[in-house]
Amino acid sequence: MTDTDSTPPRRRLRLNAFTMNVVSHIVQGQWTREDTRQREYKRLQPWVELAGILERGRFDAIFFADVVGAYDVYHGDRDAAVRNAVQFPVNDPSALVPALALVTEHLGIAFTLSILQEHPFSFARRASTLDHYTDGRVGWNVVTSYLENAARNLGYGGLPLHDTRYDRGDEYLEVLYKLWEGSWEDDAVVADRERGIYADPAKVHEIGHVGEYYDVVGPHLSEPSPQRTPVLFQAGSSERGREFAARHAEATFISARNVLGARTNVDDLHARLRRHGRRPEDLLVFQGLTVITASTEEEARRKEREVQEHLSDEGTFAVVSGWLGADLGAVDPEAPVGDLRTNAQEGLIRSLAESAPDHTWRFKDVVRSIANQRIVGTAEQVADELQAWHEEGGIDGVNLTYTTTPGSFEDFVDGVVPVLQDRGIVQREYREGTFREKLFDGASGPRLGDRHPGAAHRRPPAPAPAEVAA
Ligand SMILES: Cc1cc2nc3c(=O)[nH]c(=O)nc-3n(C[C@H](O)[C@H](O)[C@H](O)COP(=O)(O)O)c2cc1C
Repeated sequence: MTDTDSTPPRRRLRLNAFTMNVVSHIVQGQWTREDTRQREYKRLQPWVELAGILERGRFDAIFFADVVGAYDVYHGDRDAAVRNAVQFPVNDPSALVPALALVTEHLGIAFTLSILQEHPFSFARRASTLDHYTDGRVGWNVVTSYLENAARNLGYGGLPLHDTRYDRGDEYLEVLYKLWEGSWEDDAVVADRERGIYADPAKVHEIGHVGEYYDVVGPHLSEPSPQRTPVLFQAGSSERGREFAARHAEATFISARNVLGARTNVDDLHARLRRHGRRPEDLLVFQGLTVITASTEEEARRKEREVQEHLSDEGTFAVVSGWLGADLGAVDPEAPVGDLRTNAQEGLIRSLAESAPDHTWRFKDVVRSIANQRIVGTAEQVADELQAWHEEGGIDGVNLTYTTTPGSFEDFVDGVVPVLQDRGIVQREYREGTFREKLFDGASGPRLGDRHPGAAHRRPPAPAPAEVAA
């Protein structure tokens, strides 16, 4: 097939619920409210109920963020983060996957795991196991970590340099592709009870990886799962982060500050994809957005005031300091953020610049911009804004951030989703198949597409018997 005879992909908006196995994720301070179940994060029941709500709203996925360290940048210690439960305590998101898979039929379940956190050999097995238990509905958000404390917990001494973390990530993924795609041939498992042969030893291969960071012999411990490689998400937006996304990711998570910023980011990613021999439709771009909606605009504004009243400034400063890798308790609020050289999230600073190229962003604006970026209004008004992000901004999906849970998701499912469905923007029904097939509307099979670098690690199909004889 050539470029000219391929039909353009159907442009629907995908919906992910953005959450974390914590008390307080993005919008700080709301955990103190009566009408949220955030404090119950340690129990399975609220998660199971949330998954049911999302599936009722035909969400594509529930997406779990994760960190493996405390936010200790603000004022140079972790006190503010601990006091305000800022992503701390934080439980393992992957442990929720089987429970959510059991109570849903279609919902994708994507979780974050840092490449600093676990050796790729053991992670490969963990992901394959979860892909089996979900019948191929699992996604993995590949992150490289930005918290010093995380790296010190994991034996690195300090946070490896920003670009070096991505180099390590490249090799981490190479090991995984070899294990997931290349170690077991498709017909290695014969499960022949008569002959007492479960798997054919000639079709299970070592990978023999010897690299700069990892040496792995193999073979992979798990037999091939429905997707083999889980759907690959990524969330870095720096120069190096975008290269990483264009090479490896099937979905990327951006945090543009407005539609213009999204368009610039999306166009940039599309150009990079082409340079990597992939196509724009091979990478879905999800924008993080917070929505406050109600049946009237007045009620939505009242709800927003309630959010504002509960907002914790200290918690917000703690989380944003961690993202920026800069102590907002010590910097001059008037100083331009563009001058910051950080080893944390470079992409966040770039996303500010792209959203207002002629504006000098100051530290005080960053916090305000992050704390106040919300879409507030009736279902119709919210749908209008989402449509603008989708059509003008070029995004493929939204990662919906909550203020209360499950309230924010319920409001969206009951109010906004039917409007978006009537406009033909979001799906009314799920398609059959794995998470990858659903997410790409069948444009992809259950496994990585042929243009993806992971596909190069597949073993060629065994020759037919006649060819062997010849
Ligand atoms: C919207 C968004 C969500 C992210 N979620 C996580 C996460 O859950 N865990 C994590 O360790 N890093 C997360 N990150 C951080 C990135 O994975 C990355 O490490 C960071 O942005 C630094 O890379 P960059 O400079 O390329 O942007 C997120 C970043 C963004 C922008």
